[in-house]
Amino acid sequence: MKERMRNAGGFPLVATGALGILSAWVSYLGVRDYWDSSTPNVPEIVATNVLLPYEEVHIPDGPNRVVFQTSCVICHSPRLIFGQPTISEAKWLEVVNKMVATYGAPIEPEDERKIVAYLVSVQADRGDR
Ligand code: HEC
Repeated sequence: MKERMRNAGGFPLVATGALGILSAWVSYLGVRDYWDSSTPNVPEIVATNVLLPYEEVHIPDGPNRVVFQTSCVICHSPRLIFGQPTISEAKWLEVVNKMVATYGAPIEPEDERKIVAYLVSVQADRGDR
């Protein structure tokens, strides 16, 4: 009786083991190309230089150009300024005051006047665009 039970339990054990070895073999067959190859199957990475276009915005010549350049392009592009429609000296003064009072531009009152003079002269030079 004892013998029979041992034999009866032995077969499923052997069958499970054989199945395990068989499935390990089958899964090895599936991945052996990756296992055996010495160079990993990874695409080659090539370094590339990309040159992005850079366009220097032209700051026209005029009186007080330097003070304008050091005061007015630290927060935004001069394009924002030169893209404005033709406006009066009083309006430019308002704009410059707004940059100082509202946005905290570090500009001395004396330089504000110089900048306004520059903006008005540059605007006159460009004509009626
Ligand atoms: C401290 C930062 C700062 C400085 C310095 C500065 N600006 Fe501005 N400016 C701004 C901000 C912020 C705006 C609003 C931008 C927006 O609306 O996208 C602006 C907008 C403008 C505009 C668009 C119209 C408007 O009224 O919003 C003009 C024109 C302008 N600035 C001119 C000037 C001039 C001229 C100077 C030099 C006197 C100057 N800015 C200096 C911050 C600054």
